[in-house]
Amino acid sequence: MKKPWSGRFKQSTDKLMEEFSASISFDRRLYAYDITGSIAHCQMLAKCKIISQTDSKKIVGGLRRILKEFELGKFQCDDQLEDIHMNIESRLTELVGSVGGKLHTARSRNDQVCLDIRLYLRDEGEEVVQLITILAKTLLSLARKHTDTIIPGFTHMQQAQPILLAHHLLAYIEMLVRDRERMQDTLKRINIMPLGSAALAGTGFPIDRKYTAKLLHFSEVSNNSIDAVSDRDFAIEFCSTIAILMMHLSRFCEEIVLWSSSEFDWLELSDSYTTGSSIMPQKKNPDAAELIRGKSGRVYGNLVSLLTLMKSLPLAYNKDLQEDKEPIFDTVDTAKMSLSIFNGMIKSARFKKIPLHRVDISGFLTATDMADYLAEKGVPFRLAHEITGQTVAYCIESGKTLQNITFQELKNISPRFDKDIFEHITLGSSVQRKNVYGGTAKKQVVAQIARLDKKLKNKPKLGRKK
Ligand code: ARG
Repeated sequence: MKKPWSGRFKQSTDKLMEEFSASISFDRRLYAYDITGSIAHCQMLAKCKIISQTDSKKIVGGLRRILKEFELGKFQCDDQLEDIHMNIESRLTELVGSVGGKLHTARSRNDQVCLDIRLYLRDEGEEVVQLITILAKTLLSLARKHTDTIIPGFTHMQQAQPILLAHHLLAYIEMLVRDRERMQDTLKRINIMPLGSAALAGTGFPIDRKYTAKLLHFSEVSNNSIDAVSDRDFAIEFCSTIAILMMHLSRFCEEIVLWSSSEFDWLELSDSYTTGSSIMPQKKNPDAAELIRGKSGRVYGNLVSLLTLMKSLPLAYNKDLQEDKEPIFDTVDTAKMSLSIFNGMIKSARFKKIPLHRVDISGFLTATDMADYLAEKGVPFRLAHEITGQTVAYCIESGKTLQNITFQELKNISPRFDKDIFEHITLGSSVQRKNVYGGTAKKQVVAQIARLDKKLKNKPKLGRKK
């Protein structure tokens, strides 16, 4: 197979070298974007009278046929043709004859590949925005069901203070909403049209870059041809946005693993998202959650790969850049799969009735409320903290809890306790009194649900020009 660049070469490429430099095995998935970009470029060339309308129609017809071939699984990729761009161009010439060679006028593979990745990431980024929205909505309807379910909140993985389960779920929704905003913002910098930059210097042909941008629904054209063909910051930003998203999912997964353990026993995952053990018949393992947690690692790896790939590249294009594709593709696939699986897993999971006596295992969840009670009575908070600490120590020594210690015993520790202390330190009243904006009181949680509901109902802005 004759290579499009073979003109100045006398010897053929070494076989191993050919295999080494080929990217077609992985970049073939860009075929639809490569063809869409080529059609727009070709129509622009005709509009600017750089090629004739007749030639343009022939080329566009050929490109559409190639698209069909790909869709029907009939396109034969050839390793010797290195990458998706040359495979398509070569097939085009086969189909329409030498006029196919006019397509690459005023274009280089350097700006072409950049365009393809941008078109690809724009589609995928928009899909990620939709998937995040779906998951956030699932969590929101779960939160609505649990505005009366009290659980212990943890710090240092030790029971800390009672909170509403809804409040805990809403914390993750806040994170997801930020992830969504981050992706929308990332899309602004992806949505820039690089064609016309050619190899690095721009082109001498009188092209109309804005017209190409319009055909491809880009909101802007790139400002500097050297920058446009050589940077991949938009892809790095995309991966970093996904890395943060995966970090959030991974933290939640960690909790799901804990909650579905027999030690916690808060949550039962459905059979559809768990697996069994090949040796221990009783096991039902939270594999979906574990895998999402595990996969966050490879996404971080992809981000670091891209940063490292770029760190000492001189301007402008270098072949190293071909190595950007696999980490990008893997990041997209992992994120989309993880979001869908997470949604299915949590949608089909069932929260168990969390019995309050199990919730407050230590019996000291409302110790802070006891200190607050004393402080409200005028005891300086530091002293109130000390008295409560002594009360806890006394309870531990005598095998009691804050709920079943007697009033007399409390009085012996401090005369500042009154009979109303006990109603202050129930789990319910503890929760109800956290009525600060953003707090765990039901009133606040209901308001948070309403705010997030409104936010998630609004169609997210994606910035693609219609
Ligand atoms: N397959 C190449 C890549 O992914 C396309 C650009 C090739 N450009 C070049 N000057 N060899 O980066």
